[in-house]
Amino acid sequence: MAIVPVGWSSQAHQSMRSAATKAGLISNEKSWRLLFCYEPEAAALACIHESSFTITGSPKLMFVDCGGGTVDLFLARFNGDKKLEELTLGTGNFHGATSVDAQFMKFLANKIGDRAFQEYKYTVPFHFARLRQEWESKKCAFSGTQKWILQLPHALVKLFPTDKNAELRDCEIQVSAADMKSIIDPVVDEIISLICAQLEQARKLDGAKVQYLYLVGGFGSNPYLRDHMKGNSVIQEMVGSVVSLQKPDAAVVRGAVWFCLNNELIQMRRARKTVGIGVQRKFDPWRDHKSEITSYDPNDPTVVFVPKGVLCFMSKNDAVAHNASFTKGEFSDSKGAVLDQRLNVDDCTLSERSN
Ligand SMILES: Nc1ncnc2c1ncn2[C@@H]1O[C@H](COP(=O)(O)OP(=O)(O)OP(=O)(O)O)[C@@H](O)[C@H]1O
Ligand SMILES: [Mg+2]
Repeated sequence: MAIVPVGWSSQAHQSMRSAATKAGLISNEKSWRLLFCYEPEAAALACIHESSFTITGSPKLMFVDCGGGTVDLFLARFNGDKKLEELTLGTGNFHGATSVDAQFMKFLANKIGDRAFQEYKYTVPFHFARLRQEWESKKCAFSGTQKWILQLPHALVKLFPTDKNAELRDCEIQVSAADMKSIIDPVVDEIISLICAQLEQARKLDGAKVQYLYLVGGFGSNPYLRDHMKGNSVIQEMVGSVVSLQKPDAAVVRGAVWFCLNNELIQMRRARKTVGIGVQRKFDPWRDHKSEITSYDPNDPTVVFVPKGVLCFMSKNDAVAHNASFTKGEFSDSKGAVLDQRLNVDDCTLSERSN
Protein backbone atom coordinates (compact mmCIF):
# COMPACT_ATOMS: atom_id res chain seq x y z
CA MET A 1 0.00 0.00 0.00
CA ALA A 2 1.41 3.37 -0.98
CA ILE A 3 -0.22 6.41 0.61
CA VAL A 4 0.14 9.34 -1.76
CA PRO A 5 -0.88 13.01 -1.99
CA VAL A 6 -4.29 13.55 -3.50
CA GLY A 7 -3.15 15.50 -6.54
CA TRP A 8 -0.76 12.85 -7.79
CA SER A 9 -0.63 12.52 -11.57
CA SER A 10 -0.81 9.20 -13.39
CA GLN A 11 2.88 9.65 -14.27
CA ALA A 12 3.72 9.92 -10.56
CA HIS A 13 1.76 6.71 -9.86
CA GLN A 14 3.60 5.03 -12.70
CA SER A 15 6.99 6.14 -11.37
CA MET A 16 6.10 4.69 -7.97
CA ARG A 17 5.10 1.38 -9.62
CA SER A 18 8.35 1.31 -11.51
CA ALA A 19 10.37 2.09 -8.36
CA ALA A 20 8.50 -0.60 -6.38
CA THR A 21 9.26 -3.14 -9.13
CA LYS A 22 12.94 -2.22 -9.20
CA ALA A 23 13.06 -2.52 -5.41
CA GLY A 24 11.60 -6.04 -5.67
CA LEU A 25 8.44 -5.12 -3.74
CA ILE A 26 6.22 -6.27 -6.62
CA SER A 27 6.99 -8.67 -9.44
CA ASN A 28 5.89 -6.38 -12.27
CA GLU A 29 4.57 -2.85 -12.75
CA LYS A 30 0.97 -3.98 -13.22
CA SER A 31 0.88 -6.05 -10.04
CA TRP A 32 -2.38 -5.80 -8.06
CA ARG A 33 -0.30 -6.19 -4.92
CA LEU A 34 0.54 -2.49 -4.96
CA LEU A 35 -2.47 -0.38 -4.04
CA PHE A 36 -2.55 3.41 -3.88
CA CYS A 37 -4.48 5.30 -1.28
CA TYR A 38 -4.88 9.09 -1.13
CA GLU A 39 -3.77 10.69 2.14
CA PRO A 40 -6.96 12.69 2.92
CA GLU A 41 -9.13 9.65 2.17
CA ALA A 42 -7.05 7.50 4.49
CA ALA A 43 -7.34 10.15 7.21
CA ALA A 44 -11.13 10.22 6.71
CA LEU A 45 -11.47 6.45 6.95
CA ALA A 46 -9.51 6.35 10.21
CA CYS A 47 -11.82 9.03 11.63
CA ILE A 48 -15.09 7.27 10.84
CA HIS A 49 -13.85 3.88 11.99
CA GLU A 50 -12.40 5.20 15.22
CA SER A 51 -15.17 7.62 16.18
CA SER A 52 -15.97 7.24 19.85
CA PHE A 53 -19.66 7.85 18.99
CA THR A 54 -22.05 6.52 16.36
CA ILE A 55 -22.60 8.72 13.35
CA THR A 56 -26.28 8.63 12.45
CA GLY A 57 -28.10 9.68 9.28
CA SER A 58 -26.08 10.94 6.33
CA PRO A 59 -24.34 14.06 7.63
CA LYS A 60 -21.62 16.12 6.00
CA LEU A 61 -18.22 15.54 7.57
CA MET A 62 -14.99 17.45 7.18
CA PHE A 63 -11.56 15.92 7.77
CA VAL A 64 -8.60 18.22 8.38
CA ASP A 65 -5.15 16.64 8.20
CA CYS A 66 -2.49 19.04 9.49
CA GLY A 67 0.91 17.50 8.83
CA GLY A 68 4.47 18.69 8.62
CA GLY A 69 4.40 20.21 5.16
CA THR A 70 0.76 20.47 4.20
CA VAL A 71 -2.79 20.86 5.44
CA ASP A 72 -5.35 18.79 3.49
CA LEU A 73 -9.11 19.09 3.71
CA PHE A 74 -11.61 16.43 2.66
CA LEU A 75 -15.33 17.12 2.70
CA ALA A 76 -17.63 14.14 2.38
CA ARG A 77 -21.10 12.84 3.05
CA PHE A 78 -21.40 9.81 5.27
CA ASN A 79 -23.77 7.46 3.52
CA GLY A 80 -24.30 4.96 6.34
CA ASP A 81 -22.42 1.66 6.28
CA LYS A 82 -19.18 3.64 6.98
CA LYS A 83 -18.85 4.70 3.35
CA LEU A 84 -18.05 8.22 2.11
CA GLU A 85 -18.88 10.35 -0.91
CA GLU A 86 -16.60 13.29 -1.61
CA LEU A 87 -18.70 16.45 -1.90
CA THR A 88 -16.32 19.11 -3.20
CA LEU A 89 -12.82 19.27 -4.54
CA GLY A 90 -10.65 19.14 -1.43
CA THR A 91 -8.39 22.10 -0.80
CA GLY A 92 -5.09 22.43 0.99
CA ASN A 93 -2.12 24.66 1.66
CA PHE A 94 1.49 24.48 2.78
CA HIS A 95 0.94 25.77 6.31
CA GLY A 96 1.94 22.62 8.14
CA ALA A 97 4.09 22.41 11.27
CA THR A 98 7.32 23.13 9.40
CA SER A 99 5.99 26.64 8.67
CA VAL A 100 5.84 27.12 12.44
CA ASP A 101 9.46 25.92 12.66
CA ALA A 102 10.41 28.49 10.01
CA GLN A 103 8.64 31.21 12.03
CA PHE A 104 10.63 30.20 15.09
CA MET A 105 13.92 30.43 13.18
CA LYS A 106 12.94 33.94 12.05
CA PHE A 107 12.17 34.85 15.66
CA LEU A 108 15.60 33.61 16.76
CA ALA A 109 17.47 35.36 13.94
CA ASN A 110 15.65 38.54 14.84
CA LYS A 111 16.64 38.20 18.51
CA ILE A 112 20.35 37.50 18.02
CA GLY A 113 21.01 39.14 14.65
CA ASP A 114 21.62 37.44 11.30
CA ARG A 115 25.37 37.14 11.73
CA ALA A 116 25.18 35.31 15.06
CA PHE A 117 22.31 33.18 13.75
CA GLN A 118 24.29 31.97 10.70
CA GLU A 119 27.35 31.35 12.87
CA TYR A 120 25.19 29.39 15.33
CA LYS A 121 23.79 27.18 12.55
CA TYR A 122 27.06 26.42 10.83
CA THR A 123 29.81 26.58 13.44
CA VAL A 124 28.07 25.08 16.48
CA PRO A 125 25.76 22.61 14.68
CA PHE A 126 25.65 20.16 17.58
CA HIS A 127 24.29 22.81 19.94
CA PHE A 128 21.94 24.05 17.21
CA ALA A 129 20.57 20.52 16.68
CA ARG A 130 19.88 20.31 20.42
CA LEU A 131 18.05 23.62 20.27
CA ARG A 132 15.88 22.28 17.43
CA GLN A 133 14.99 19.27 19.54
CA GLU A 134 14.10 21.49 22.45
CA TRP A 135 11.99 23.69 20.17
CA GLU A 136 10.20 20.60 18.84
CA SER A 137 9.13 19.54 22.31
CA LYS A 138 8.06 23.09 23.30
CA LYS A 139 6.09 23.47 20.06
CA CYS A 140 4.34 20.11 20.44
CA ALA A 141 3.28 20.75 24.02
CA PHE A 142 2.28 24.40 23.57
CA SER A 143 -1.29 25.05 24.63
CA GLY A 144 -1.19 28.84 24.99
CA THR A 145 0.43 29.48 28.37
CA GLN A 146 3.89 27.86 28.51
CA LYS A 147 7.06 29.94 28.45
CA TRP A 148 10.69 28.78 28.41
CA ILE A 149 14.27 29.92 28.56
CA LEU A 150 16.40 29.32 25.52
CA GLN A 151 20.11 28.88 26.25
CA LEU A 152 22.60 30.08 23.62
CA PRO A 153 26.26 28.98 23.31
CA HIS A 154 28.75 31.42 24.83
CA ALA A 155 30.82 31.31 21.66
CA LEU A 156 28.23 33.61 20.08
CA VAL A 157 28.64 36.49 22.55
CA LYS A 158 31.12 38.42 20.40
CA LEU A 159 28.74 38.25 17.41
CA PHE A 160 25.63 39.68 19.04
CA PRO A 161 24.63 43.10 17.69
CA THR A 162 25.83 45.83 20.07
CA ASP A 163 22.30 47.00 20.85
CA LYS A 164 21.47 43.47 22.10
CA ASN A 165 24.59 43.00 24.24
CA ALA A 166 22.91 43.90 27.50
CA GLU A 167 19.79 41.83 26.75
CA LEU A 168 21.80 38.74 25.76
CA ARG A 169 24.58 39.09 28.35
CA ASP A 170 23.69 35.76 30.01
CA CYS A 171 23.22 34.03 26.65
CA GLU A 172 19.59 33.44 27.47
CA ILE A 173 16.38 34.33 25.69
CA GLN A 174 13.12 34.37 27.57
CA VAL A 175 10.49 33.01 25.22
CA SER A 176 7.19 34.14 26.67
CA ALA A 177 3.77 32.67 25.93
CA ALA A 178 3.09 35.82 23.87
CA ASP A 179 6.26 35.12 21.83
CA MET A 180 5.12 31.55 21.23
CA LYS A 181 1.74 32.81 20.09
CA SER A 182 3.34 35.31 17.72
CA ILE A 183 5.29 32.39 16.18
CA ILE A 184 2.33 30.01 15.84
CA ASP A 185 -0.56 32.41 15.19
CA PRO A 186 0.20 33.32 11.55
CA VAL A 187 0.14 29.63 10.63
CA VAL A 188 -2.95 28.86 12.72
CA ASP A 189 -4.75 31.82 11.08
CA GLU A 190 -3.93 30.48 7.61
CA ILE A 191 -5.28 27.05 8.52
CA ILE A 192 -8.45 28.49 9.99
CA SER A 193 -9.15 30.64 6.94
CA LEU A 194 -8.64 27.63 4.68
CA ILE A 195 -11.16 25.68 6.74
CA CYS A 196 -13.66 28.56 6.79
CA ALA A 197 -13.52 28.86 2.99
CA GLN A 198 -14.22 25.14 2.63
CA LEU A 199 -17.03 25.33 5.19
CA GLU A 200 -18.59 28.09 3.13
CA GLN A 201 -18.48 25.78 0.09
CA ALA A 202 -20.09 23.06 2.19
CA ARG A 203 -22.87 25.39 3.30
CA LYS A 204 -23.63 26.37 -0.28
CA LEU A 205 -24.38 22.73 -1.12
CA ASP A 206 -27.49 22.38 1.02
CA GLY A 207 -27.44 25.11 3.66
CA ALA A 208 -26.79 22.57 6.43
CA LYS A 209 -23.94 22.57 8.94
CA VAL A 210 -21.01 20.20 8.70
CA GLN A 211 -21.93 17.86 11.51
CA TYR A 212 -18.43 16.82 12.58
CA LEU A 213 -15.02 18.29 11.82
CA TYR A 214 -12.24 15.80 12.53
CA LEU A 215 -8.75 17.11 13.21
CA VAL A 216 -5.82 14.73 12.58
CA GLY A 217 -2.13 14.73 11.61
CA GLY A 218 0.94 15.49 13.72
CA PHE A 219 0.23 19.22 13.89
CA GLY A 220 -3.45 18.35 14.34
CA SER A 221 -2.59 16.94 17.75
CA ASN A 222 -1.41 20.36 18.96
CA PRO A 223 -3.57 21.61 21.85
CA TYR A 224 -3.22 25.30 20.90
CA LEU A 225 -4.34 24.68 17.31
CA ARG A 226 -7.21 22.47 18.47
CA ASP A 227 -8.44 25.01 21.03
CA HIS A 228 -8.23 27.81 18.48
CA MET A 229 -10.30 25.85 16.04
CA LYS A 230 -12.89 24.99 18.64
CA GLY A 231 -13.06 28.61 19.78
CA ASN A 232 -13.32 30.19 16.33
CA SER A 233 -16.73 31.81 15.93
CA VAL A 234 -17.15 30.94 12.22
CA ILE A 235 -16.28 27.31 12.86
CA GLN A 236 -18.65 27.26 15.83
CA GLU A 237 -21.44 28.58 13.63
CA MET A 238 -20.90 26.22 10.71
CA VAL A 239 -19.83 22.99 12.47
CA GLY A 240 -21.71 20.74 14.91
CA SER A 241 -18.57 19.60 16.78
CA VAL A 242 -14.80 19.53 16.35
CA VAL A 243 -13.57 16.00 17.07
CA SER A 244 -10.08 14.61 17.78
CA LEU A 245 -8.88 11.01 17.63
CA GLN A 246 -6.80 9.12 20.18
CA LYS A 247 -3.59 9.06 18.11
CA PRO A 248 -4.17 11.66 15.42
CA ASP A 249 -0.59 11.68 14.12
CA ALA A 250 -0.82 8.16 12.66
CA ALA A 251 -4.44 8.37 11.44
CA VAL A 252 -3.41 8.24 7.78
CA VAL A 253 -1.52 4.99 8.27
CA ARG A 254 -4.41 3.32 10.08
CA GLY A 255 -6.94 4.63 7.55
CA ALA A 256 -4.90 3.17 4.70
CA VAL A 257 -5.39 -0.25 6.26
CA TRP A 258 -9.17 0.25 6.16
CA PHE A 259 -8.88 1.22 2.52
CA CYS A 260 -6.77 -1.86 1.81
CA LEU A 261 -9.46 -4.07 3.37
CA ASN A 262 -12.22 -2.47 1.30
CA ASN A 263 -11.41 0.03 -1.43
CA GLU A 264 -15.11 0.74 -1.96
CA LEU A 265 -15.28 2.68 1.30
CA ILE A 266 -14.80 5.86 -0.73
CA GLN A 267 -17.85 5.47 -2.94
CA MET A 268 -17.61 8.71 -4.85
CA ARG A 269 -14.80 11.13 -5.65
CA ARG A 270 -14.59 14.48 -7.40
CA ALA A 271 -12.62 14.53 -10.65
CA ARG A 272 -9.35 16.47 -10.16
CA LYS A 273 -9.02 17.09 -13.88
CA THR A 274 -11.09 17.42 -17.00
CA VAL A 275 -10.53 14.32 -19.10
CA GLY A 276 -11.39 14.08 -22.78
CA ILE A 277 -10.01 13.62 -26.22
CA GLY A 278 -8.67 16.26 -28.51
CA VAL A 279 -10.94 17.01 -31.44
CA GLN A 280 -11.12 19.52 -34.22
CA ARG A 281 -13.54 22.39 -34.19
CA LYS A 282 -14.49 25.02 -36.70
CA PHE A 283 -12.03 27.83 -37.19
CA ASP A 284 -13.09 30.94 -35.32
CA PRO A 285 -11.42 34.13 -36.64
CA TRP A 286 -11.90 35.82 -33.24
CA ARG A 287 -10.00 33.14 -31.28
CA ASP A 288 -7.76 31.38 -33.79
CA HIS A 289 -4.92 32.25 -36.07
CA LYS A 290 -4.95 31.09 -39.70
CA SER A 291 -1.66 29.27 -39.14
CA GLU A 292 -3.49 26.90 -36.75
CA ILE A 293 -5.77 25.49 -39.46
CA THR A 294 -5.00 21.80 -40.04
CA SER A 295 -7.92 20.51 -42.17
CA TYR A 296 -10.97 21.49 -44.17
CA ASP A 297 -14.35 20.00 -45.08
CA PRO A 298 -13.91 18.04 -48.35
CA ASN A 299 -17.47 18.99 -49.36
CA ASP A 300 -16.94 22.62 -48.64
CA PRO A 301 -13.29 23.76 -48.56
CA THR A 302 -14.33 27.14 -47.18
CA VAL A 303 -15.11 25.37 -43.86
CA VAL A 304 -11.82 24.88 -42.05
CA PHE A 305 -10.87 23.34 -38.72
CA VAL A 306 -8.37 23.85 -35.92
CA PRO A 307 -7.30 21.05 -33.51
CA LYS A 308 -8.21 22.98 -30.38
CA GLY A 309 -11.38 21.34 -29.05
CA VAL A 310 -11.80 18.78 -26.30
CA LEU A 311 -14.65 16.30 -26.19
CA CYS A 312 -15.08 15.74 -22.49
CA PHE A 313 -15.52 12.38 -20.80
CA MET A 314 -15.70 14.08 -17.45
CA SER A 315 -15.08 17.58 -16.19
CA LYS A 316 -13.14 18.76 -13.18
CA ASN A 317 -15.26 18.50 -10.01
CA ASP A 318 -17.74 15.99 -11.53
CA ALA A 319 -18.82 13.24 -9.13
CA VAL A 320 -17.18 9.97 -10.20
CA ALA A 321 -18.22 6.63 -8.69
CA HIS A 322 -15.41 4.40 -7.38
CA ASN A 323 -16.18 1.83 -10.09
CA ALA A 324 -16.88 4.27 -12.93
CA SER A 325 -15.44 3.62 -16.35
CA PHE A 326 -15.68 5.81 -19.42
CA THR A 327 -15.69 4.54 -22.98
CA LYS A 328 -16.48 6.21 -26.25
CA GLY A 329 -16.65 4.17 -29.42
CA GLU A 330 -18.56 5.88 -32.15
CA PHE A 331 -19.05 9.59 -31.99
CA SER A 332 -22.07 11.35 -33.31
CA ASP A 333 -23.02 14.94 -33.73
CA SER A 334 -26.11 16.49 -32.24
CA LYS A 335 -28.15 15.44 -35.28
CA GLY A 336 -27.35 11.79 -34.67
CA ALA A 337 -25.06 11.26 -37.64
CA VAL A 338 -22.27 8.85 -36.79
CA LEU A 339 -18.84 10.30 -37.26
CA ASP A 340 -15.88 8.07 -37.75
CA GLN A 341 -12.22 8.52 -38.46
CA ARG A 342 -11.70 12.25 -38.60
CA LEU A 343 -13.81 13.88 -36.00
CA ASN A 344 -15.03 17.34 -36.86
CA VAL A 345 -17.00 18.22 -33.84
CA ASP A 346 -19.03 21.31 -34.16
CA ASP A 347 -22.21 20.91 -32.20
CA CYS A 348 -20.94 18.54 -29.49
CA THR A 349 -20.10 19.62 -25.96
CA LEU A 350 -16.77 21.30 -26.39
CA SER A 351 -14.31 22.90 -24.08
CA GLU A 352 -11.23 24.72 -25.14
CA ARG A 353 -8.01 22.74 -24.95
CA SER A 354 -5.69 24.27 -22.38
CA ASN A 355 -2.48 22.36 -23.25
N1 LIG B 1 1.72 18.37 19.11
C1 LIG B 1 2.27 18.91 18.01
N2 LIG B 1 2.25 20.24 17.83
C2 LIG B 1 2.77 20.83 16.75
N3 LIG B 1 3.37 20.13 15.77
C3 LIG B 1 3.43 18.80 15.90
C4 LIG B 1 2.90 18.12 17.02
N4 LIG B 1 3.13 16.78 16.87
C5 LIG B 1 3.79 16.65 15.70
N5 LIG B 1 3.97 17.85 15.12
C6 LIG B 1 4.60 18.14 13.84
O1 LIG B 1 3.85 17.44 12.85
C7 LIG B 1 4.70 17.02 11.79
C8 LIG B 1 4.49 15.56 11.54
O2 LIG B 1 3.13 15.33 11.31
P1 LIG B 1 2.64 14.27 10.22
O3 LIG B 1 3.28 12.97 10.50
O4 LIG B 1 1.16 14.31 10.18
O5 LIG B 1 3.25 14.94 8.92
P2 LIG B 1 3.45 14.28 7.49
O6 LIG B 1 2.28 13.42 7.18
O7 LIG B 1 4.80 13.66 7.44
O8 LIG B 1 3.47 15.58 6.58
P3 LIG B 1 2.59 15.93 5.29
O9 LIG B 1 1.22 15.41 5.55
O10 LIG B 1 2.66 17.40 5.20
O11 LIG B 1 3.27 15.24 4.17
C9 LIG B 1 6.13 17.35 12.21
O12 LIG B 1 6.52 18.55 11.53
C10 LIG B 1 6.01 17.62 13.71
O13 LIG B 1 6.93 18.60 14.15
MG1 LIG C 1 0.46 13.71 6.22
